[in-house]
Amino acid sequence: MPESASYSSRFQTQADVEAYEAREYGAASYATHVWQWQRPVLERIIQDALRGRTSPARLLDFACGTGRVLACVESLVDVAEGVDISEKMVALARAKCRQARFKVGDILAQPELLQPSYEVITAFRFLLNVEPAVRRRVLLKLREVTCEPDGLLIVNVHGNSRSLRHPAVVWRRWREAARPTGAMLNEMSLAETKSLLRASGFEIVRQFGFGLLPPTLYRTPLRRPAARLDQLCAGDNLWRNCSIDLMFVCRPV
Ligand SMILES: C[S@@+](CC[C@H](N)C(=O)[O-])C[C@H]1O[C@@H](n2cnc3c(N)ncnc32)[C@H](O)[C@@H]1O
Repeated sequence: MPESASYSSRFQTQADVEAYEAREYGAASYATHVWQWQRPVLERIIQDALRGRTSPARLLDFACGTGRVLACVESLVDVAEGVDISEKMVALARAKCRQARFKVGDILAQPELLQPSYEVITAFRFLLNVEPAVRRRVLLKLREVTCEPDGLLIVNVHGNSRSLRHPAVVWRRWREAARPTGAMLNEMSLAETKSLLRASGFEIVRQFGFGLLPPTLYRTPLRRPAARLDQLCAGDNLWRNCSIDLMFVCRPV
């Protein structure tokens, strides 16, 4: 039994893995739209951070899942590694990536899964849904292996509680109480995330926001104008604090 059970067992069955790949990241899904805006920003951050480096750069994609992030960033570094607790998720990631190496397991129980130091660590769509006690312990472990002084942690929270998605979450929680479906309806506030990162030894140096409008609009005939507007508002700008998906670039304190 992994030390951090529960969310850790969320993606262990083939059905869950396939739902994540085909439904959550289906061609026109909301998550796919967000990734289209987020991806170039992430690539740019890593390229800028590593420009002019003379020694090899090592990247860890923690909770790499099906390799969505790793497949895009592996070519930007010298060594890319993915770690995830689900063998089935990693099987998809292996098929997508060309040079990344993978390890399957729980970094809290098996610290040997990690190298001593990484120049870049990414952790996408992990913090929000994992149990709060595990969030902190995982971040502290990642802090231990973040290269000092200029290593980067790039992490996102894909459910800002101060966004226009919030009313739909409240409504779905109410429905969920009557008829449970197992939907993940977690939210975190910006203040909560900042304080978690700070308490784990990270300082936020940049923050980006993606997706202003309620995702429900993407299931209506308004999806094209909604996507255009969300694309215009994505990034490091006035709207970032009230965006649904918050992305943070952090340095070790
Ligand atoms: C929503 S998926 C995100 C995957 C990928 N980062 C992405 O953004 O597409 C969450 C991933 O976290 C992994 N996970 C959950 N608990 C974990 C743990 N304790 N250690 C490592 N991975 C874990 C799951 O197996 C799953 O692949």
